[in-house]
Amino acid sequence: MYKKVLPALSAWLLCTCSILVVQAQQPVKPTGKVNTVNVSGQQIKIRTENTFAEITVYSPAVIRIRMDQQPLLPDFSYAVIARPADTRVQVSQTDQEIKISTDSLQLRVAKNPFSVHFFTPSGEVINEDESGLNTSWIGPAVTTYKKMQEGERFIGLGEKTGNLDRKGEGYTNWNSDVFGYATNRDPIYATIPFYIGIHHRINYGIFFDNSFQSDFNFGASNNRFSSFGARGGEMNYYFIYHTRMADIITSYTALTGRMPMPPMWSLGYQQNRYSYYPDTEVLRIAQTLREKKIPADGITLDIHYMDAYKLFTWNKERFPNPRQLSDQLNKMGFKITVIADPGIKTEPGYAAYESGKQEDIFLKYPDGNYYTGQVWPGWCHFPDFTSVKGRNWWKDQVKSYMRAGVSGIWNDMNEIATWGQKMPDNVLFNYEGHPITHLQGHNLYGLQMVRASYEGAREALQQRPFMLTRAAYAGSQRYSAIWTGDNRAEEDHMLLGIRLLNSLGVSGMPFSGMDIGGFTGNPTVSLYARWMQIGAFIPYFRNHTGINTKSAEPWAFGEEVLEISRNYINLRYRLLPYLYSTLHEATRTGMPVMRTLALNNTFDAQVYDTRYQQQYGFGDALMIAPFESTAAFGQIYFPAGKWYNLYTDSMTTGSQAVIYPLSIKTLPVFVKESSIIPMQSLVQSTAEKPGDTLFLHLYKGDQHNTFVYYEDDGQSFDHEKGVFYQRAITYTPADKKLTLEKVTGSYPARFRYIKLLLHGFPARERITVNGSSISLQAAAYAFLSPISRFDPQGSFVPADSCLVQQAVFPNHQQFINVDLE
Ligand code: NOJ
Repeated sequence: MYKKVLPALSAWLLCTCSILVVQAQQPVKPTGKVNTVNVSGQQIKIRTENTFAEITVYSPAVIRIRMDQQPLLPDFSYAVIARPADTRVQVSQTDQEIKISTDSLQLRVAKNPFSVHFFTPSGEVINEDESGLNTSWIGPAVTTYKKMQEGERFIGLGEKTGNLDRKGEGYTNWNSDVFGYATNRDPIYATIPFYIGIHHRINYGIFFDNSFQSDFNFGASNNRFSSFGARGGEMNYYFIYHTRMADIITSYTALTGRMPMPPMWSLGYQQNRYSYYPDTEVLRIAQTLREKKIPADGITLDIHYMDAYKLFTWNKERFPNPRQLSDQLNKMGFKITVIADPGIKTEPGYAAYESGKQEDIFLKYPDGNYYTGQVWPGWCHFPDFTSVKGRNWWKDQVKSYMRAGVSGIWNDMNEIATWGQKMPDNVLFNYEGHPITHLQGHNLYGLQMVRASYEGAREALQQRPFMLTRAAYAGSQRYSAIWTGDNRAEEDHMLLGIRLLNSLGVSGMPFSGMDIGGFTGNPTVSLYARWMQIGAFIPYFRNHTGINTKSAEPWAFGEEVLEISRNYINLRYRLLPYLYSTLHEATRTGMPVMRTLALNNTFDAQVYDTRYQQQYGFGDALMIAPFESTAAFGQIYFPAGKWYNLYTDSMTTGSQAVIYPLSIKTLPVFVKESSIIPMQSLVQSTAEKPGDTLFLHLYKGDQHNTFVYYEDDGQSFDHEKGVFYQRAITYTPADKKLTLEKVTGSYPARFRYIKLLLHGFPARERITVNGSSISLQAAAYAFLSPISRFDPQGSFVPADSCLVQQAVFPNHQQFINVDLE
């Protein structure tokens, strides 16, 4: 017996030990110590024992770190569009470290082993490598480990489920088609590897520009570090430091770009379902919206408009004359958005397939055969959007939609979604002539698809197209709005959706939406009503539902819900001047429209409390407090300052939580003191002229405040040539003044008059505008219309209203100075 066992045992031992010896050599490869340092202006090239590293100063606040096990490849990124700006940098070194200082931050690079440590100019630690772990490789996978600072929080990372504060969680980036995803599902559709860390009244941003599957760990199953890494490629991150979170977002969007001004119509209400067909049904929906006086601007066509789901075709029975349909809808003030999936059916004779083959634009296996995967139309090839040829082909195809009168493209299934979801690793992407595998190309596919769709549609329309995408990578904001895919008609999904959009906002994607009402399942009556109210305060306001669900138009849930929905859609349309100006701010600074309270109250621990984490700013002035539709009371946190109830003007002092009675008829909305909110008269679509008066609401407060008001024609690119109307409006409480600065830009004002509505100001008879005394009238002002409700005695209950002091004066181009008291 022993004779048999012993040789086997010794063979096993020998084998196991030799594996251990091999592994003990270097299962985790560290950076090692610095061997050489070459400083050239703002760039420092470093060779360590195991790595090639490069440190580049992009601006006083942004420093890029690159590292690889091999010499660094030529620099290329689809996400980053900025080049390093000339920056004053001081570099000095000793045997122990290299010190790199800008006006905003200090980077110390330890030499043994190589590790990086960021400090404020006054020497506080902002962020540093975790000693002993730093950056290392396991095979081709690279990870950087950062010391977990005491009390550190993490927000951002784009479209990620979970809490606002991501501490204790881990996340993966691999764009995935996740039908009816659970509220804790990760990953979902988009990859934005940018997050913000917060500790000790310091905040910083890290953008890890690597498109391989990446993993972020914010203290998940460890109490030592936060980390970010990827399955391949370089360690390549941009470190951003500013004292204000808003400036971090501005720097991040200076790197990855900002959204272009969207067409005005895309900010109106959009009606959708999977799918409205035939054409008569689409018209019926449009007509019903008009008849029921529900303002709307868009109808979206889902996959049934196509012939057997074949892209760039129309089903001849259902849509015999798409141009005629779009002309008819345009006359009614509606624009059409069509869905476009990337899969091209492999069907001989089908024009897109034949021309795609002819032009050789599909993704291939290494042996040159096209990759074939299954999606709606059956077996498909997929255009390679990482080649100029592929994008140009797509741009030409997309133009056929524009010729049919389509104004927007809804880019779906672009993760890439294929049934089964396991697209092979060895599919090759052209990557501008330097082929990469699916492992690196996957997360970029959505970004490059919307780039091609946007460019094609823009060329064809010669006007701003509307773009919507499901998959994304950092930088997608340059081309497209994003929505959060196949959510569920459930209360917690509505609240999750808000967190997703808030997170996308701080991650550079300000134009976003979710399926209002829920995609899978049927919402309860109250959930639908609450979701529609919230929708009015979401940048892309689209009602959408799945194929097997009940009707989900605003009239499908009874008269009361119809009134509630109409009320909030009306309010949305009246708020368009405010929303449009806020989107313009996003194009200038990257500021989101939906602003998690963490953006302006970064160091207030309460805003991260899971009870309050859904509260958000809609632009600078409004705070929305969303609650499940079934709750009778909600606890609302008011950050520092004073807050007006939007509907009644009753005031709450900040830095406290208040229990608030809830009613399904109204969504709790509050106005920050000193706010300036421009509004217009109600219209049924943005194609309609909103009267000649701009309603300028001013809320008395102690804070100095400036609102940058912006208009343009809402559709062309003339604003890029200076044809816009912009003026800063400043409220100076100390001087009791409101000033409208001289207009810049050459676009004529849309409004001849300004009606100033003063909230919270003492009653007076007159104010002075540019030295002339103007009469001021007290009036009741209602943001909502009365909803047909009766008190127990049977008498009609009027809508809530505010008592305002109002005055009208001409809206001339020059400086307007209003003495308020
Ligand atoms: C998946 C999308 O997420 C959904 O919104 C759409 O309705 C279906 N695809 C059908 O096109």
